[in-house]
Amino acid sequence: MSDFYFFDSISTELDLVEAALVKSVDSNVKIIDHAAAHLIKAGGKRIRPAFVLLAAKYFREHIEYIIPMAVALELIHVATLVHDDVIDNSDLRRGAPTVRSEWGNRVSIYTGNYIFAHALTLIEEYDQTEIVDILADTSMKICEGEINQMFSCYRTDLGLKNYLRRIERKTALLISVSCQLGAMVSDANSEQIKALKEYGYYLGMAFQITDDILDFIADEKTLGKPTGSDIRQGVITLPAIYALKYDPHRDELKRLLASPELCKTEAERIIDIIVNSAGIDYAYYATNHFANQAQKKLGLLPASPLRQTFAEFADFLSAREC
Ligand code: IPE
Ligand code: IPE
Ligand code: MG
Ligand code: MG
Repeated sequence: MSDFYFFDSISTELDLVEAALVKSVDSNVKIIDHAAAHLIKAGGKRIRPAFVLLAAKYFREHIEYIIPMAVALELIHVATLVHDDVIDNSDLRRGAPTVRSEWGNRVSIYTGNYIFAHALTLIEEYDQTEIVDILADTSMKICEGEINQMFSCYRTDLGLKNYLRRIERKTALLISVSCQLGAMVSDANSEQIKALKEYGYYLGMAFQITDDILDFIADEKTLGKPTGSDIRQGVITLPAIYALKYDPHRDELKRLLASPELCKTEAERIIDIIVNSAGIDYAYYATNHFANQAQKKLGLLPASPLRQTFAEFADFLSAREC
């Protein structure tokens, strides 16, 4: 995906990010080195560093100074993935075995922490407490979102509000901050920073809803991670929330989703009900709604060819297949 045309204007900088990411895992403890490098080298879409770079590029031509920030945002994301795969019992990530499945939960915990701490060392060089505050606050909220999700499993009584709150925390805020910080350290004015922050927020919401749809309908190979995983773990996402409310099979669905055992043994039946309900269409409708909200924020930015890039990126991310 890094040769994707949205990235044309930042391709040189993205290559530098890539090199810095690989260099960032340099622990003397080989097991940390291997586990972290394994996930980083497995690839990924790199959308958070791309947003940092694009937001900076909007306001300045030369943006080498932003590379450590872009690397830090990807590292924070990667750290959350290492931990998320422990929580979700997942064996596949970015088309490769997860750190959890290769090295186990105990190594995953410290590998995630190590990667996160490395991100902090990169932020230090900007010498701005506001940046540290923003990233600390976002990281705390990601933890809240993930914990909230753990305790919302099998809870068929929790609806849209709970769902939106947790996806905001676990996903949207980091994407929002990627856009915000790129603009912030590049002399954008406060209105422009706010516009990009809000663009990132709405797009982040659309992004996670799409992720949740893909868990039902994607091709596992293209996705690079297991499908059907949310249901097997009892994670009730937007398509399920809709079906629980409106589908003719809602009573059966409720009984199945409320049971940890049935979520595993009857996963196929549950997925079948949801995929054949209007839940997937509804979730796509919600994705489009958030992507449109994101697009609207772009109107507050000065005219630039990059505005079109941001707009097309929003469309692409909400209609993606991986
Ligand atoms: C996966 O994020 C976790 C979510 C927030 C949905 P990405 O879909 O950006 O994962 P990579 O970085 O491309 O692997
Ligand atoms: C994870 O959400 C978001 C974070 C990593 C904080 P998911 O659990 O849906 O992400 P995937 O599907 O495993 O990538
Ligand atoms: Mg997961
Ligand atoms: Mg998911």
